[in-house]
Amino acid sequence: MTALLEVNGLKKHFPIHGGFLGQETAKVYAVDGVSFAIARGETLSLVGESGCGKSTVGRAILRLFSITEGEVYLDGERIDNLSAGRLRSMRQRMQVVFQDPFSSLNPRMRVRDILAEPLVNFGLVKGRRDLNEKVADLMDKVHLPRDAVGRFPHEFSGGQRQRIGIARALAPGADLIICDEAVSALDVSVKAQIINLLVELQDTLGLSLLFISHDLATVEHLTHRVAVMYLGKIVELADRRALFAHPHHPYTRALLSAVPVPDPTAKRQRIILKGDVPSPINPPSGCKFHTRCPFVFDRCKVEEPELRPVGGDTAHTAACHLDHVPGEEDAVVPVAA
Ligand SMILES: Nc1ncnc2c1ncn2[C@@H]1O[C@H](COP(=O)(O)OP(=O)(O)OP(=O)(O)O)[C@@H](O)[C@H]1O
Ligand SMILES: [Mg+2]
Repeated sequence: MTALLEVNGLKKHFPIHGGFLGQETAKVYAVDGVSFAIARGETLSLVGESGCGKSTVGRAILRLFSITEGEVYLDGERIDNLSAGRLRSMRQRMQVVFQDPFSSLNPRMRVRDILAEPLVNFGLVKGRRDLNEKVADLMDKVHLPRDAVGRFPHEFSGGQRQRIGIARALAPGADLIICDEAVSALDVSVKAQIINLLVELQDTLGLSLLFISHDLATVEHLTHRVAVMYLGKIVELADRRALFAHPHHPYTRALLSAVPVPDPTAKRQRIILKGDVPSPINPPSGCKFHTRCPFVFDRCKVEEPELRPVGGDTAHTAACHLDHVPGEEDAVVPVAA
């Protein structure tokens, strides 16, 4: 089975123009070699601290800019090098939901017109009656009252506005939805409702989701797989259960140690990482995480680790020179070079 989305060796380096003549003086290595695939009906979450390149991956897939290197395939068709005309039809199949629906929804447009816009632009309606039916159907899908279509975005709560953002993403009949911090600004209970809605829509419509979040706790109840990013690279990729139960990479462990555990008797030791995330303009040599890793040894400083299967599970990969000793949560030993 071909994956719905396949990303191979994606790189995006942003040039920095400085100097007297505005020449390129440096590069931001925002995304530096990222590969993953998403199956039809699957959710993959992209998680990591601010600035690690998550949104850049999402924007590169949506072709909001051209990429530096790599390939992106949608349903087997290469899309990173499409002409403007072909790009349009591809955009119908991929939609995005942003963090702040308030700034992404035109405040002067009524919900009816916000939802009608993509339907009309992609030529999906036959007359006014059909349009009204399709708009009403979108309102039903996101559980908003049909008669709210005459209202403006500011007349809705944050959670309701995000439902409108989701309805707009659903309008063109996309099979891939990229959610970039789509629930990050919402209160806990509203967040849970929107997550439930996404899970329900995925189930009923067979959508694929790329769910971008800086927070591991948010993705636990909605994702099938998780990719953890650090400074432009995926450092661990695994099935949700495997990642939460047996995190391998010291960075994943540190992120996970900050996630509250529902059972107060099950203690999780908090791992505090030293220092800040290094600048993507001048990333460290070898393993990019070595400057903050509690287990760093000489090899990490010179040799960049590749993603490789860990813990006897081929679907669970991590980019680390350390081998995890099974059964001993914090025991790790270096792999023979
Ligand atoms: N257009 C741009 N020009 C130059 N640098 C950029 C541009 N867009 C992003 N960057 C840089 O690329 C890096 C990755 O940014 P990105 O927005 O992808 O991170 P992120 O993981 O989504 O962070 P956050 O969690 O804060 O949203 C950052 O250092 C950012 O400053
Ligand atoms: Mg972002």
